[in-house]
Amino acid sequence: MKGLILSGGKGTRLRPITHTSAKQLIPVANKPILFYGIEAMRFAGILEIGIIVGQTRNEIVEAVGSGERWGVQITYIDQPEPLGLAHAVKTACAFLKGDPFVMYLGDNLLKCGISHFVEEFQKSGAHAQILLAKVPNPQDFGVAQLSGDQVVRLVEKPKHPPSDLALVGVYMFDSHIFKAVEKLKPSARGELEITDAIQWLIDQGFEVSSHQVTGWWKDTGKREDLLEANRLACDALETHIDGDVDSESSIYFKVVIEKGAVVRRSKIRGPAIIGKDTLIEDAFIGPFTAIADQCDIRECEIEDSILLDHTVINQIAQRISGSVIGRHVRISHSKERPAAISLLLGENCHIDL
Ligand code: G1P
Repeated sequence: MKGLILSGGKGTRLRPITHTSAKQLIPVANKPILFYGIEAMRFAGILEIGIIVGQTRNEIVEAVGSGERWGVQITYIDQPEPLGLAHAVKTACAFLKGDPFVMYLGDNLLKCGISHFVEEFQKSGAHAQILLAKVPNPQDFGVAQLSGDQVVRLVEKPKHPPSDLALVGVYMFDSHIFKAVEKLKPSARGELEITDAIQWLIDQGFEVSSHQVTGWWKDTGKREDLLEANRLACDALETHIDGDVDSESSIYFKVVIEKGAVVRRSKIRGPAIIGKDTLIEDAFIGPFTAIADQCDIRECEIEDSILLDHTVINQIAQRISGSVIGRHVRISHSKERPAAISLLLGENCHIDL
């Protein structure tokens, strides 16, 4: 079985972070989201993986490389325009060569991985397998209507959802999907929808099996979802201290301190992770916080947040919470008068004071 990971798209809902970074490379518990998908595939025994790339191709290639580090072989497939998930399948036709495959949306995270589902699919003889999860906001997803165990209808982002079962961004197909994608017409949002392709399989009488995901699942398209994914991934950490923690600091619960990190006169309450060569001094790092490499954090309190690498936060009186802070950001206390807030911000920043 082959793997196909979709890593194109513009990530407009995560701007400004995605002005300079592919959304699939944003770290969750200090690991790019995309890497979780690659690891899940490797764990399921999938060694040949195609990654669909778009505008952010160079960054993705630089971060992922040949796949050697996971013992898999990565092939990059260019999708010139983001014309939909079914269009991505068409684009990958030459790579997939009619083999059965797992398609994984590069911004999705699944706690339980995919091994079990891949095994099921291989045994079942079904033509396609979808994963479903109960959600409070089904109108934001593809939604399935079941009759008993049988999937009878799939609708993409319906105004009036027929159920609360969302389509998870992991799908398994055999070669029949290629026929389906050939028959499609663009949807109202102008895309070739994979949801419509699966509906075509159902309408033609092909077997489409479904599984309900029990562990957590997250589509990380928005800030709130990203922070929730970070909480879940941090919660799965186990304490591991490679960096340097002085005797005046205290560490509670699940905390990872990576190599070269230094913690002085600080309190770290996990689940939390501190990246390589980061300095934490006279600070409080609260639960569900991931601070990436080479940051400089002094005299401040941060909780429930994601900080990307090389960020500096210095002498901030108010606790920082629920924040996603990009690379090379500097937030510091100023002694200048008047005591005003002074900002240098780029496009699409969000500030809640
Ligand atoms: C896509 C699919 C949708 C699915 C979702 C899962 O939506 O079109 O059916 O439920 O991924 O993440 P998108 O993220 O492109 O809006």
